[in-house]
Amino acid sequence: MPMPIIAIQEILDGKSKGESVTIRGWIHRKRESKQTIFLIVRDASSVIQCTVKRDNPFWTQAKKVTKESPVMIKGTVKQDKRATGGYEIAVERLSIIGLAETFPITKGKGEETEKFLRDNRHLWLRSRRMNWIMRVRSEVLRFIHEFFRKEGFIEVSPPMFISSACEGGATLFGLKYFGKDLYLTQSAQLYLEALIYSLEKVYCVAPSFRAEKSRTIRHLTEYWHVEPEWAFAGMDDLMRVEEDLVSYVCQKTVENCRREMKSLGADTSKLIAVKTPFPRIKYTEAIERLNAKDFKIRWGEDLGFDEEKALAEEFDKPFFIYAYPRQIKAFYCKTYRDNPDLAMSTDMLVPRIGEISTGGVREDDKEELLKRLKEFGLREEDYDWYIDLRRYGTVPHVGFGLGVERLLTWMLDLENIIDAIPFPRTIRRFYP
Ligand code: 4AD
Ligand code: MG
Repeated sequence: MPMPIIAIQEILDGKSKGESVTIRGWIHRKRESKQTIFLIVRDASSVIQCTVKRDNPFWTQAKKVTKESPVMIKGTVKQDKRATGGYEIAVERLSIIGLAETFPITKGKGEETEKFLRDNRHLWLRSRRMNWIMRVRSEVLRFIHEFFRKEGFIEVSPPMFISSACEGGATLFGLKYFGKDLYLTQSAQLYLEALIYSLEKVYCVAPSFRAEKSRTIRHLTEYWHVEPEWAFAGMDDLMRVEEDLVSYVCQKTVENCRREMKSLGADTSKLIAVKTPFPRIKYTEAIERLNAKDFKIRWGEDLGFDEEKALAEEFDKPFFIYAYPRQIKAFYCKTYRDNPDLAMSTDMLVPRIGEISTGGVREDDKEELLKRLKEFGLREEDYDWYIDLRRYGTVPHVGFGLGVERLLTWMLDLENIIDAIPFPRTIRRFYP
């Protein structure tokens, strides 16, 4: 009977000391000396050193095998303090599943240029670093779904082709749709609002598209957007769910991704410290704090990346800014009834990245909504179906949008958002 294939991580966990095992993976690196060939083999779970001695009948195979060739190896597990991971395999059988051509990436991050690795992203995804990030990303998504399901939200699937803007025309990607002008979605929000009348509490995790000309460490043109929307709720409910979600994801990720986070050099103590309630300041206070720090920003102006970073430094953890001037927030934002200059809108900010989410109470009154559309220069006929939601059974409701990649960039201390997604799309980058 053939031996079952074992994951390399299981060996490193010390479960097969002295045993004979079979592993399957790719040659991650190869080193040779006169008497020994060291094959560093990688599978999805980890890497391990496999040694072939000169008198081994598989010596010629080991000589021949190239970096990135898929292989199957049978051998005995030995504890060896010198080997990374503390274990190695003394090879007894080596079969080459396919011989790889000379691999273009020879070194790795820090030694090959950032541009070269980005141009070869399809190959660089095999690096240990990208493997760890993608594993954490998968877990973060799992905990996001877990959280909403635990809270009674129903997952829904919004459209990607849309006919009118949610977040303003400046960042809309247009496309031809059988001769008509359509757009790629910027946010599922308006559709989620329609769905609450059936399901009350809904959420989605879906792509959003932004024709962002900004070249910063926090902008993609295609990103994954977590958006919940729910009925019979106000500002307080909104901020509570939002902070509960973020702290749940942080705690669960630290618990479940210790190894990956350590390998990435990410600061786990920062995530452990994420506890509710999060600090909340009003926009007006944010402006005062900034002016005290010599920022020239005036009341009524939107916060830029630098302003957000300066504020976030003061808190050193996630926090909310709320009650923004209505003119800098979207048309659908409800205003405070006792102060119509202010929108019931809130952003969550984190150190180094600034905004990771925006949410708020939606204007639920038809007449007010019509006024807001006019104020923003939007055509009523483009939003007719949306106005229907205020005609037939309107209720107070809230929602927010959280960018998955921004959250990950902060959680993992990534230098740039492009490493938070396997195939990043930015103004310049759409290949591979
Ligand atoms: O602040 P935004 O534009 O808000 C909305 O789209 C609302 N309709 C969401 C809602 O209430 N359902 O986008 C929400 C979040 C941002 O806070 C940010 O995390 C992320 O989406 N985001 C981006 N992430 C990466 N690259 C970009 N270009 C992004 N633009 C927005
Ligand atoms: Mg925003």
